[in-house]
Amino acid sequence: MTIPDREADFWDKVVERSAADEQALRILPDDLCDPAVPWFKHLDLDCFVAAVLAHIDPKPGMRILDLGCGRGFLSVALAHRGAVVEGVDISPRSIGYSIRRAETSGVSDRTTFTVMDCKDLTFEDESFDAVCGGFVLHHLDLENAARGVGRVLKPGGKAAFIETMGLNPLLMLARATLPGRLSIQKESSDDEYPLDHARLAKLQASFPGRVRTSFPQIVFLRMGGYLPFLDNRWGIGLMTGLDHLIARAPALGSLSYYGLVTMDRGSKTEC
Ligand SMILES: C[S@@+](CC[C@H](N)C(=O)[O-])C[C@H]1O[C@@H](n2cnc3c(N)ncnc32)[C@H](O)[C@@H]1O
Repeated sequence: MTIPDREADFWDKVVERSAADEQALRILPDDLCDPAVPWFKHLDLDCFVAAVLAHIDPKPGMRILDLGCGRGFLSVALAHRGAVVEGVDISPRSIGYSIRRAETSGVSDRTTFTVMDCKDLTFEDESFDAVCGGFVLHHLDLENAARGVGRVLKPGGKAAFIETMGLNPLLMLARATLPGRLSIQKESSDDEYPLDHARLAKLQASFPGRVRTSFPQIVFLRMGGYLPFLDNRWGIGLMTGLDHLIARAPALGSLSYYGLVTMDRGSKTEC
């Protein structure tokens, strides 16, 4: 199986597992947390979604591309704000789910979802005001992705991605050793590589503009909630409190499992 086939197969199965929950389909205009992925709530990912929206600043009529749109949460959130959104994903079931979701959420007139490999984006040069994505860059060839985003963005266009980071050695060790043991489910595919300094440098090297990483929130100790003995109100509450304390020291941002990667294209056509 090729990597794209493996990715499509893995994410088709993930979506299939959540497809039965009809209540999670509808996304409300103010939702910042995907109801189809309830554990995101514990990880405080709302503030990452808010940071993507703040960076892109969607306005009615803006054309936005959602790379690796999965179950379409970001696409629908942007369409609720008036943007015209193209969502692409390699997983056909994800695309089917996103289409149903946009219909249920009342934004199907402003969204289009297509099965597409991000490696070969078929959109015209400089055709989007903004590009976004949730947890997708670390699944892609980063040089190719940077060139693709740079190509389809209009001059001065902005991109923002919530990403899984590989800057904390302790979390990387836990990720390599724990899933599949101690009743911890494996929720990542075999073809994804959290972003470390070398991968971020690759992204910057092939992008015609500025790439920046920031940490709107520190999600570190609360990842311990995946351990059965900490998966309770007290355990998660304690770990979250400690994460908030760590977040007071901006220099410790790289401890976080999640980060915000922004890519802003220069304003000249030739960069
Ligand atoms: C971790 S999931 C994130 C989904 C969604 N963005 C979200 O925030 O829930 C990664 C997504 O990237 C998609 N993906 C992986 N490789 C891809 C590729 N080469 N082209 C398009 N989509 C891809 C997967 O199918 C999956 O839906």
